[in-house]
Amino acid sequence: EILDAKGLHILPGAIDVHVHFRDPGYPNKEDWESGTAAAAFGGVTTVFDMPNTIPPTGNAEILAAKHKIAAEKAHVDFGLYGLLGEDTIDNVPDLVKGGVIGFKLYMGNTFGKIPSPSTGAMLEAFEVVAETGKRISLHAETNTIMERRQTRLTQAGRHDPLAHIASRPAVVAVEAVSRACILSEWTGARIHILHISSADELRPLREAKARGVDVTGETCPQYLFLSTDDYDRFAGVIRVNPPVREKENQEPIWSALADGTVDMIATDHAPHTPEEKTRNDIWAVDCGFPGVETQMPAMLTEVNAGRMSISDYVRWSAFNPARTWGLYPRKGAIQVGSDADIALVDLGHAWTIDDAKIQSRSKISPWHGRKVKGLPIHTIVRGRFVMRDRTLVPGTRGHGRSVHTIQEMPAPDVRNADKTMKAVTSSHRSAENAA
Ligand code: NCD
Ligand code: ZN
Ligand code: ZN
Repeated sequence: EILDAKGLHILPGAIDVHVHFRDPGYPNKEDWESGTAAAAFGGVTTVFDMPNTIPPTGNAEILAAKHKIAAEKAHVDFGLYGLLGEDTIDNVPDLVKGGVIGFKLYMGNTFGKIPSPSTGAMLEAFEVVAETGKRISLHAETNTIMERRQTRLTQAGRHDPLAHIASRPAVVAVEAVSRACILSEWTGARIHILHISSADELRPLREAKARGVDVTGETCPQYLFLSTDDYDRFAGVIRVNPPVREKENQEPIWSALADGTVDMIATDHAPHTPEEKTRNDIWAVDCGFPGVETQMPAMLTEVNAGRMSISDYVRWSAFNPARTWGLYPRKGAIQVGSDADIALVDLGHAWTIDDAKIQSRSKISPWHGRKVKGLPIHTIVRGRFVMRDRTLVPGTRGHGRSVHTIQEMPAPDVRNADKTMKAVTSSHRSAENAA
Protein backbone atom coordinates (compact mmCIF):
# COMPACT_ATOMS: atom_id res chain seq x y z
CA GLU A 1 0.00 0.00 0.00
CA ILE A 2 1.50 3.31 -1.07
CA LEU A 3 0.93 6.42 0.97
CA ASP A 4 1.22 9.77 -0.70
CA ALA A 5 3.17 11.74 1.89
CA LYS A 6 3.90 14.64 -0.43
CA GLY A 7 4.31 17.85 1.51
CA LEU A 8 4.39 16.09 4.87
CA HIS A 9 7.31 15.88 7.28
CA ILE A 10 8.18 12.52 8.81
CA LEU A 11 9.03 12.73 12.49
CA PRO A 12 9.73 10.03 15.05
CA GLY A 13 6.50 9.53 17.01
CA ALA A 14 6.59 11.67 20.12
CA ILE A 15 7.19 9.93 23.45
CA ASP A 16 5.18 11.60 26.21
CA VAL A 17 6.78 10.40 29.43
CA HIS A 18 4.16 12.02 31.66
CA VAL A 19 0.44 11.34 31.21
CA HIS A 20 -2.43 10.52 33.57
CA PHE A 21 -4.88 8.24 31.76
CA ARG A 22 -6.96 7.59 34.93
CA ASP A 23 -7.62 3.92 34.15
CA PRO A 24 -8.48 2.14 36.39
CA GLY A 25 -10.24 4.57 38.66
CA TYR A 26 -11.70 7.63 36.96
CA PRO A 27 -13.20 6.64 33.58
CA ASN A 28 -15.32 9.81 33.66
CA LYS A 29 -12.07 11.78 33.26
CA GLU A 30 -10.24 9.45 30.80
CA ASP A 31 -9.51 5.81 30.05
CA TRP A 32 -6.91 3.92 28.06
CA GLU A 33 -9.01 4.09 24.92
CA SER A 34 -9.76 7.82 24.94
CA GLY A 35 -6.31 8.72 26.26
CA THR A 36 -4.42 6.77 23.62
CA ALA A 37 -6.78 8.02 20.88
CA ALA A 38 -5.79 11.52 21.99
CA ALA A 39 -2.13 10.48 21.79
CA ALA A 40 -2.58 9.08 18.27
CA PHE A 41 -4.19 12.34 17.11
CA GLY A 42 -1.28 14.22 18.63
CA GLY A 43 1.44 12.29 16.79
CA VAL A 44 2.39 10.57 20.05
CA THR A 45 3.29 6.88 19.61
CA THR A 46 4.35 6.12 23.18
CA VAL A 47 3.08 7.32 26.56
CA PHE A 48 4.30 6.67 30.11
CA ASP A 49 1.35 6.57 32.48
CA MET A 50 1.51 7.79 36.07
CA PRO A 51 0.58 5.57 39.02
CA ASN A 52 -2.04 7.77 40.72
CA THR A 53 -4.88 5.61 39.43
CA ILE A 54 -7.19 3.59 41.69
CA PRO A 55 -5.74 1.53 43.21
CA PRO A 56 -2.34 3.26 42.92
CA THR A 57 0.19 1.18 40.95
CA GLY A 58 2.12 0.13 44.04
CA ASN A 59 2.50 -3.65 43.79
CA ALA A 60 3.02 -6.31 41.15
CA GLU A 61 -0.56 -7.53 41.23
CA ILE A 62 -2.04 -4.09 40.63
CA LEU A 63 0.58 -3.48 37.95
CA ALA A 64 -0.35 -6.70 36.15
CA ALA A 65 -4.02 -5.74 36.22
CA LYS A 66 -3.24 -2.31 34.80
CA HIS A 67 -1.02 -3.80 32.07
CA LYS A 68 -3.95 -5.99 31.07
CA ILE A 69 -6.41 -3.07 30.88
CA ALA A 70 -3.98 -0.97 28.89
CA ALA A 71 -3.10 -3.80 26.50
CA GLU A 72 -6.78 -4.37 25.75
CA LYS A 73 -7.58 -0.76 24.95
CA ALA A 74 -4.45 1.13 23.89
CA HIS A 75 -3.97 2.45 20.36
CA VAL A 76 -0.35 3.45 21.05
CA ASP A 77 2.51 1.92 23.02
CA PHE A 78 2.86 2.60 26.70
CA GLY A 79 5.04 2.27 29.78
CA LEU A 80 3.63 2.11 33.31
CA TYR A 81 5.24 3.80 36.30
CA GLY A 82 5.32 2.04 39.65
CA LEU A 83 4.46 4.08 42.73
CA LEU A 84 7.44 4.64 45.01
CA GLY A 85 6.03 5.54 48.41
CA GLU A 86 6.82 4.88 52.02
CA ASP A 87 4.70 1.69 51.93
CA THR A 88 5.82 0.33 48.57
CA ILE A 89 9.63 0.24 48.93
CA ASP A 90 9.56 -3.51 49.56
CA ASN A 91 7.60 -4.04 46.33
CA VAL A 92 10.29 -2.50 44.12
CA PRO A 93 11.93 -5.77 42.94
CA ASP A 94 8.55 -7.30 42.02
CA LEU A 95 7.43 -4.14 40.24
CA VAL A 96 10.65 -4.23 38.21
CA LYS A 97 10.06 -7.89 37.34
CA GLY A 98 6.51 -6.91 36.38
CA GLY A 99 7.86 -4.52 33.75
CA VAL A 100 7.57 -0.97 35.12
CA ILE A 101 9.19 1.66 32.93
CA GLY A 102 10.43 3.38 36.08
CA PHE A 103 9.18 4.75 39.39
CA LYS A 104 7.21 7.82 40.39
CA LEU A 105 7.72 9.49 43.73
CA TYR A 106 5.43 12.27 44.92
CA MET A 107 7.33 14.68 47.15
CA GLY A 108 4.20 16.83 47.31
CA ASN A 109 0.52 15.99 47.42
CA THR A 110 -1.46 16.33 44.25
CA PHE A 111 -4.42 14.47 42.81
CA GLY A 112 -5.10 11.04 44.33
CA LYS A 113 -4.28 11.58 48.01
CA ILE A 114 -0.92 9.86 47.71
CA PRO A 115 1.13 10.57 50.83
CA SER A 116 4.62 11.90 50.18
CA PRO A 117 7.47 10.01 51.86
CA SER A 118 9.70 11.55 54.51
CA THR A 119 13.28 12.32 53.52
CA GLY A 120 14.36 9.21 55.44
CA ALA A 121 11.99 7.02 53.47
CA MET A 122 13.12 8.71 50.27
CA LEU A 123 16.74 7.83 51.02
CA GLU A 124 15.78 4.19 51.51
CA ALA A 125 13.64 4.19 48.40
CA PHE A 126 16.50 5.67 46.35
CA GLU A 127 18.92 3.03 47.69
CA VAL A 128 16.57 0.22 46.75
CA VAL A 129 15.81 1.56 43.26
CA ALA A 130 19.50 2.30 42.59
CA GLU A 131 20.10 -1.47 42.74
CA THR A 132 17.65 -1.98 39.89
CA GLY A 133 19.01 0.68 37.52
CA LYS A 134 15.50 2.07 37.00
CA ARG A 135 14.91 5.82 36.98
CA ILE A 136 12.82 7.62 39.61
CA SER A 137 10.61 10.41 38.28
CA LEU A 138 9.81 13.01 40.88
CA HIS A 139 6.95 15.37 41.47
CA ALA A 140 9.38 17.77 43.14
CA GLU A 141 7.36 20.04 45.39
CA THR A 142 7.90 20.00 49.16
CA ASN A 143 4.69 19.18 50.94
CA THR A 144 5.43 20.72 54.31
CA ILE A 145 6.19 24.14 52.81
CA MET A 146 3.04 24.09 50.67
CA GLU A 147 0.77 22.99 53.49
CA ARG A 148 1.95 25.77 55.82
CA ARG A 149 1.43 28.34 53.08
CA GLN A 150 -1.99 27.03 52.22
CA THR A 151 -3.11 27.09 55.86
CA ARG A 152 -1.94 30.68 56.26
CA LEU A 153 -3.61 31.82 53.04
CA THR A 154 -6.87 30.11 53.94
CA GLN A 155 -6.82 31.74 57.36
CA ALA A 156 -6.26 35.07 55.66
CA GLY A 157 -9.38 34.40 53.59
CA ARG A 158 -7.55 34.17 50.27
CA HIS A 159 -9.54 32.16 47.74
CA ASP A 160 -8.51 33.91 44.53
CA PRO A 161 -6.73 31.91 41.83
CA LEU A 162 -3.43 33.61 42.57
CA ALA A 163 -3.54 32.20 46.11
CA HIS A 164 -3.01 28.79 44.52
CA ILE A 165 0.32 30.08 43.20
CA ALA A 166 1.14 31.82 46.44
CA SER A 167 0.76 28.47 48.23
CA ARG A 168 3.33 26.92 45.90
CA PRO A 169 6.09 29.50 45.37
CA ALA A 170 9.05 28.35 43.29
CA VAL A 171 11.11 27.70 46.43
CA VAL A 172 8.83 24.71 47.02
CA ALA A 173 10.24 23.20 43.83
CA VAL A 174 13.79 24.49 44.25
CA GLU A 175 14.08 22.85 47.67
CA ALA A 176 12.64 19.56 46.40
CA VAL A 177 14.81 19.45 43.25
CA SER A 178 17.93 20.15 45.31
CA ARG A 179 17.07 17.48 47.86
CA ALA A 180 16.28 14.91 45.19
CA CYS A 181 19.60 15.62 43.44
CA ILE A 182 21.54 15.25 46.70
CA LEU A 183 19.88 11.90 47.43
CA SER A 184 20.52 10.77 43.87
CA GLU A 185 24.18 11.70 44.16
CA TRP A 186 24.45 9.88 47.47
CA THR A 187 22.75 6.68 46.37
CA GLY A 188 23.49 6.50 42.65
CA ALA A 189 19.78 6.33 41.83
CA ARG A 190 18.95 7.79 38.43
CA ILE A 191 16.31 10.48 38.64
CA HIS A 192 14.05 12.55 36.40
CA ILE A 193 12.59 15.90 37.47
CA LEU A 194 9.02 16.20 36.24
CA HIS A 195 7.27 19.39 35.14
CA ILE A 196 9.94 22.07 35.63
CA SER A 197 7.93 25.27 35.99
CA SER A 198 10.32 27.96 37.14
CA ALA A 199 13.62 29.58 36.24
CA ASP A 200 14.76 29.03 39.83
CA GLU A 201 14.80 25.23 39.55
CA LEU A 202 17.29 25.38 36.71
CA ARG A 203 20.22 26.25 38.96
CA PRO A 204 20.13 23.15 41.19
CA LEU A 205 19.50 21.05 38.10
CA ARG A 206 22.44 22.56 36.20
CA GLU A 207 24.72 22.22 39.20
CA ALA A 208 23.74 18.59 39.76
CA LYS A 209 24.36 17.76 36.10
CA ALA A 210 27.75 19.48 36.29
CA ARG A 211 28.63 17.26 39.28
CA GLY A 212 27.77 14.21 37.21
CA VAL A 213 24.46 13.34 38.86
CA ASP A 214 22.38 11.11 36.57
CA VAL A 215 19.43 13.48 36.44
CA THR A 216 17.20 14.43 33.53
CA GLY A 217 14.50 17.08 33.43
CA GLU A 218 11.28 17.73 31.60
CA THR A 219 9.15 20.81 31.14
CA CYS A 220 5.62 21.04 29.73
CA PRO A 221 3.95 23.32 27.18
CA GLN A 222 2.02 25.09 29.98
CA TYR A 223 5.26 26.44 31.47
CA LEU A 224 6.55 27.56 28.06
CA PHE A 225 3.34 29.16 26.79
CA LEU A 226 1.13 30.10 29.74
CA SER A 227 1.71 32.41 32.69
CA THR A 228 -0.04 34.20 35.52
CA ASP A 229 -1.15 36.71 32.86
CA ASP A 230 -3.59 34.04 31.68
CA TYR A 231 -5.22 33.49 35.07
CA ASP A 232 -8.13 35.86 34.57
CA ARG A 233 -8.92 34.49 31.15
CA PHE A 234 -8.93 30.84 32.17
CA ALA A 235 -9.87 31.07 35.86
CA GLY A 236 -9.95 27.60 37.47
CA VAL A 237 -9.21 25.79 34.22
CA ILE A 238 -5.57 26.83 34.34
CA ARG A 239 -5.06 25.47 37.86
CA VAL A 240 -2.25 22.92 37.68
CA ASN A 241 0.47 21.57 39.96
CA PRO A 242 3.03 23.01 39.85
CA PRO A 243 1.27 26.26 38.91
CA VAL A 244 2.02 28.25 35.78
CA ARG A 245 4.19 31.13 36.93
CA GLU A 246 5.12 34.70 36.09
CA LYS A 247 5.98 35.24 32.43
CA GLU A 248 9.66 35.96 33.24
CA ASN A 249 10.12 32.22 33.80
CA GLN A 250 9.42 31.25 30.21
CA GLU A 251 12.57 32.45 28.41
CA PRO A 252 15.00 30.82 30.88
CA ILE A 253 13.17 27.50 30.47
CA TRP A 254 13.37 27.76 26.66
CA SER A 255 17.10 28.48 27.01
CA ALA A 256 17.51 25.51 29.34
CA LEU A 257 15.96 23.27 26.69
CA ALA A 258 18.33 24.71 24.12
CA ASP A 259 21.44 24.16 26.27
CA GLY A 260 20.38 20.68 27.40
CA THR A 261 19.72 21.46 31.08
CA VAL A 262 16.11 20.50 30.47
CA ASP A 263 16.15 17.36 28.34
CA MET A 264 12.63 16.96 27.08
CA ILE A 265 9.02 18.03 26.66
CA ALA A 266 6.26 16.03 28.32
CA THR A 267 2.69 17.15 28.85
CA ASP A 268 1.49 16.04 32.31
CA HIS A 269 -1.78 15.32 30.49
CA ALA A 270 -4.10 15.51 33.52
CA PRO A 271 -7.75 15.27 32.48
CA HIS A 272 -10.58 16.26 34.80
CA THR A 273 -14.25 16.89 34.02
CA PRO A 274 -15.53 20.33 32.99
CA GLU A 275 -17.70 20.41 36.15
CA GLU A 276 -14.62 19.86 38.28
CA LYS A 277 -12.57 22.46 36.46
CA THR A 278 -15.18 25.17 36.57
CA ARG A 279 -16.13 24.67 40.21
CA ASN A 280 -15.39 27.83 42.12
CA ASP A 281 -12.90 26.33 44.56
CA ILE A 282 -9.24 27.14 44.12
CA TRP A 283 -8.20 24.61 46.78
CA ALA A 284 -9.91 21.75 44.95
CA VAL A 285 -7.59 18.88 44.05
CA ASP A 286 -8.64 18.68 40.40
CA CYS A 287 -5.49 20.31 39.07
CA GLY A 288 -4.21 19.87 35.55
CA PHE A 289 -5.71 19.63 32.06
CA PRO A 290 -5.31 17.56 28.88
CA GLY A 291 -2.29 18.14 26.64
CA VAL A 292 -1.09 14.93 24.97
CA GLU A 293 -2.99 15.82 21.80
CA THR A 294 -1.90 19.42 21.41
CA GLN A 295 1.76 19.36 22.42
CA MET A 296 3.08 18.68 18.93
CA PRO A 297 1.01 21.40 17.21
CA ALA A 298 1.91 23.90 19.95
CA MET A 299 5.61 23.15 19.62
CA LEU A 300 5.63 22.96 15.81
CA THR A 301 4.13 26.45 15.83
CA GLU A 302 7.42 27.58 17.37
CA VAL A 303 9.37 25.67 14.72
CA ASN A 304 7.38 27.61 12.13
CA ALA A 305 8.11 30.84 13.96
CA GLY A 306 11.84 30.08 13.84
CA ARG A 307 12.39 29.71 17.57
CA MET A 308 13.88 26.26 17.14
CA SER A 309 14.62 23.71 14.43
CA ILE A 310 12.72 20.52 13.69
CA SER A 311 15.71 18.55 14.94
CA ASP A 312 15.54 20.43 18.27
CA TYR A 313 11.92 19.40 18.51
CA VAL A 314 12.71 15.77 17.67
CA ARG A 315 15.45 15.75 20.30
CA TRP A 316 13.09 17.02 23.02
CA SER A 317 9.98 15.08 22.04
CA ALA A 318 11.38 11.71 21.00
CA PHE A 319 15.14 11.18 20.91
CA ASN A 320 15.99 12.21 24.49
CA PRO A 321 13.01 10.41 26.08
CA ALA A 322 13.90 7.25 24.13
CA ARG A 323 17.55 7.41 25.15
CA THR A 324 16.77 8.21 28.78
CA TRP A 325 14.55 5.14 29.22
CA GLY A 326 16.56 2.76 27.03
CA LEU A 327 14.15 2.66 24.10
CA TYR A 328 16.40 4.15 21.43
CA PRO A 329 16.56 3.36 18.51
CA ARG A 330 13.42 1.23 18.55
CA LYS A 331 11.71 4.47 19.49
CA GLY A 332 12.87 8.05 19.05
CA ALA A 333 14.23 7.49 15.55
CA ILE A 334 12.76 7.28 12.08
CA GLN A 335 12.48 3.82 10.66
CA VAL A 336 10.57 2.37 7.77
CA GLY A 337 8.62 -0.87 7.47
CA SER A 338 7.29 -2.95 10.30
CA ASP A 339 9.28 -1.04 12.93
CA ALA A 340 8.05 2.40 11.88
CA ASP A 341 7.00 4.50 14.83
CA ILE A 342 6.36 7.83 13.23
CA ALA A 343 4.15 10.86 12.83
CA LEU A 344 3.56 12.44 9.44
CA VAL A 345 2.84 16.10 9.94
CA ASP A 346 1.64 18.97 7.82
CA LEU A 347 3.93 21.67 9.10
CA GLY A 348 2.14 24.45 7.27
CA HIS A 349 -1.38 23.68 8.47
CA ALA A 350 -2.73 26.62 10.48
CA TRP A 351 -5.69 25.87 12.74
CA THR A 352 -7.28 26.79 16.04
CA ILE A 353 -7.48 24.37 18.96
CA ASP A 354 -11.08 23.60 19.86
CA ASP A 355 -11.68 21.69 23.11
CA ALA A 356 -14.99 20.36 21.80
CA LYS A 357 -13.11 18.46 19.08
CA ILE A 358 -10.35 16.82 21.10
CA GLN A 359 -10.28 13.07 21.64
CA SER A 360 -9.63 13.32 25.36
CA ARG A 361 -12.71 12.87 27.50
CA SER A 362 -11.68 16.03 29.35
CA LYS A 363 -12.96 18.66 26.96
CA ILE A 364 -11.68 21.63 28.87
CA SER A 365 -8.22 23.16 28.72
CA PRO A 366 -6.41 26.48 28.55
CA TRP A 367 -5.33 25.50 25.01
CA HIS A 368 -8.83 26.25 23.75
CA GLY A 369 -8.84 28.98 21.12
CA ARG A 370 -5.07 28.89 20.62
CA LYS A 371 -3.92 29.47 17.06
CA VAL A 372 -1.30 26.92 16.04
CA LYS A 373 0.56 25.89 12.89
CA GLY A 374 1.40 22.22 12.36
CA LEU A 375 -0.85 19.16 12.43
CA PRO A 376 -0.16 15.42 12.61
CA ILE A 377 -2.01 13.87 9.65
CA HIS A 378 -1.06 10.21 10.12
CA THR A 379 0.38 8.33 13.08
CA ILE A 380 2.07 4.94 12.69
CA VAL A 381 2.84 2.72 15.67
CA ARG A 382 5.15 -0.24 14.97
CA GLY A 383 4.36 -0.27 11.29
CA ARG A 384 0.63 0.14 11.59
CA PHE A 385 -1.50 3.22 10.99
CA VAL A 386 -3.45 4.01 14.14
CA MET A 387 -4.53 7.47 12.98
CA ARG A 388 -4.91 8.12 9.27
CA ASP A 389 -6.16 11.30 7.61
CA ARG A 390 -7.21 12.62 11.03
CA THR A 391 -9.34 9.52 11.65
CA LEU A 392 -8.79 6.76 14.16
CA VAL A 393 -8.12 3.53 12.26
CA PRO A 394 -10.74 0.90 13.15
CA GLY A 395 -9.36 -2.22 14.77
CA THR A 396 -6.32 -0.57 16.34
CA ARG A 397 -7.76 -0.71 19.84
CA GLY A 398 -5.37 -3.09 21.58
CA HIS A 399 -2.52 -2.54 19.10
CA GLY A 400 -0.57 -0.67 21.79
CA ARG A 401 1.97 -2.71 23.73
CA SER A 402 3.88 -2.19 26.92
CA VAL A 403 7.39 -1.08 26.06
CA HIS A 404 8.88 -3.73 28.37
CA THR A 405 7.64 -6.38 25.95
CA ILE A 406 9.03 -4.37 23.04
CA GLN A 407 12.41 -3.98 24.72
CA GLU A 408 12.72 -7.76 24.63
CA MET A 409 12.43 -7.76 20.83
CA PRO A 410 15.69 -7.58 18.81
CA ALA A 411 16.90 -4.01 18.32
CA PRO A 412 16.79 -2.51 14.85
CA ASP A 413 19.88 -1.31 13.04
CA VAL A 414 21.24 1.76 14.82
CA ARG A 415 23.19 2.98 11.79
CA ASN A 416 20.02 3.32 9.79
CA ALA A 417 18.37 5.16 12.63
CA ASP A 418 21.24 7.62 12.80
CA LYS A 419 21.15 8.06 9.04
CA THR A 420 17.49 8.96 9.21
CA MET A 421 18.16 11.40 12.07
CA LYS A 422 20.57 13.09 9.67
CA ALA A 423 17.98 12.97 6.92
CA VAL A 424 15.52 14.84 9.14
CA THR A 425 18.13 17.44 9.91
CA SER A 426 19.13 17.95 6.30
CA SER A 427 15.58 17.99 4.96
CA HIS A 428 14.85 20.64 7.56
CA ARG A 429 17.88 22.61 6.44
CA SER A 430 16.75 22.51 2.84
CA ALA A 431 13.31 23.61 3.96
CA GLU A 432 14.94 26.51 5.77
CA ASN A 433 16.96 27.41 2.69
CA ALA A 434 13.87 27.29 0.54
CA ALA A 435 12.01 29.58 2.95
C1 NCD B 1 -1.88 15.67 38.22
C2 NCD B 1 -3.15 14.83 38.24
O1 NCD B 1 -4.24 15.40 38.12
O2 NCD B 1 -3.06 13.60 38.31
N1 NCD B 1 -2.25 17.03 38.40
C3 NCD B 1 -1.50 18.11 38.11
O3 NCD B 1 -1.92 19.22 38.42
N2 NCD B 1 -0.34 18.01 37.49
C4 NCD B 1 -0.93 15.18 39.24
C5 NCD B 1 0.48 15.64 39.07
O4 NCD B 1 1.11 15.49 38.03
O5 NCD B 1 1.05 16.14 40.02
ZN1 ZN C 1 3.14 16.02 39.31
ZN1 ZN D 1 1.50 14.55 36.55
